[in-house]
Amino acid sequence: MRVLVVGSGGREHALAWKLLQSARVQEVFCIPGNGGTAKLARCRNLALAISDFEGIGRFALVNNIALTVIGPEAPLADGITDYLQQQNLMVFGPTQAGAQIESSKAWAKALMQDANIPTAKAEVFTDAAEAIAYVKVQGVPIVIKADGLAAGKGVAVAMTLEEAIDAIDTCFGGQFGTAGQRLVIEEYLTGQEASVLAVTDGLTIRPLLPAQDYKQIGDGDTGANTGGMGAYAPTPIVPPALMERIQQDILEPAIATLRQREIDYRGVLYAGLMITPSGDPKVIEFNCRFGDPETQAILPLLETPLDMVMMACIQQRLDQLPPLIWKSGAAACVVMAAGGYPGTYKKGLPLRGIEQAESRGALVFHAGTKIKQQQLVTDGGRVLGVTAVGESFKEAIAQAYSAIGCIQFEGMYYRRDIGHRIL
Ligand code: AMP
Ligand code: GLY
Repeated sequence: MRVLVVGSGGREHALAWKLLQSARVQEVFCIPGNGGTAKLARCRNLALAISDFEGIGRFALVNNIALTVIGPEAPLADGITDYLQQQNLMVFGPTQAGAQIESSKAWAKALMQDANIPTAKAEVFTDAAEAIAYVKVQGVPIVIKADGLAAGKGVAVAMTLEEAIDAIDTCFGGQFGTAGQRLVIEEYLTGQEASVLAVTDGLTIRPLLPAQDYKQIGDGDTGANTGGMGAYAPTPIVPPALMERIQQDILEPAIATLRQREIDYRGVLYAGLMITPSGDPKVIEFNCRFGDPETQAILPLLETPLDMVMMACIQQRLDQLPPLIWKSGAAACVVMAAGGYPGTYKKGLPLRGIEQAESRGALVFHAGTKIKQQQLVTDGGRVLGVTAVGESFKEAIAQAYSAIGCIQFEGMYYRRDIGHRIL
């Protein structure tokens, strides 16, 4: 079969790479892909925008695409699945109605409350004065979230009342466009964060290996939040008994409540969790897609062909799929970013040493790279996700860092402490 992957990050490179390992997958097309997918054997990039639903649909129909996988949240929130389904295409990723679980934090919070899913206590506001009055009563720390998609920048964890008021003013001040016209103010949770990604066909839901993401730019979890600077899986923070509870108390009720709302959700449901000091899992957010960089750490451990899992979701027969098979051991992904990220950074810088890194056994997933005049250059903030699989975490982490030592580009930056929490 021929498969289409929509997106251009490290997640999409990992998806294309994994799909191509299946005996059934002949060829993968990436829209628009990156320098890594351009170099992958049996993979081709297409110069179409991810917002060009018509162009994507036409390509898929003309080229007999058997499966289309949507990477990022924006096209899902804009209804790419609904559009492609109308053309009778097989799409992995929820419809626009389902994607609201990520695209509206107020909607997601209401769903969690209805489903009795453990989560931070919260209220929704459309008026700054009322929001500020509420914060004054609740006290700090408190968390202020723009309702809509804000590219990961819409959440402020306010430690002081001034910070909280600032965040409320920023949201209503139009900084996040329509995403900030409504906000959710919620209780501050403490504990360890974990990412539980699950695949679902709308009836059955099955978790993948639990992962942990390093969101902040600086070592020791300091500095600004980013899209994610590294990840590892399976995280011991979610042992099997806790995963059972997450399945029963969070994943199953989420799918059941979506169904009650007549939403047929097929794709990935990603629960961003806080494991509180008492050991209870609470949902911080839901995402309607694979995580990035979590996917780069999870997929290298998956033995079951990914196309089989995705087709079982699309055809609503996930209950008949044998249990997912995982490699033993662990995987770690360290993100190499452009100097300045998550602020301003340069693009177009030549990259060296990727083959050497790969010859040491690392998987180098590209995120912000492209091929320009036959040369591989940087093209984004997160540039590469250098991933290694090992018998133990220690081995995987050491191997990823050893591979990083081979790679060079001007201004490159990476965290030195990915995996420290488990070592
Ligand atoms: P979100 O985009 O909702 O995942 O939030 C981004 C980050 O803000 C999370 O990864 C957490 O580190 C932090 N955060 C969000 N909600 C809370 C909360 N209720 N309590 C503490 N930290 C939070
Ligand atoms: N790594 C966090 C996310 O994908 O949302």
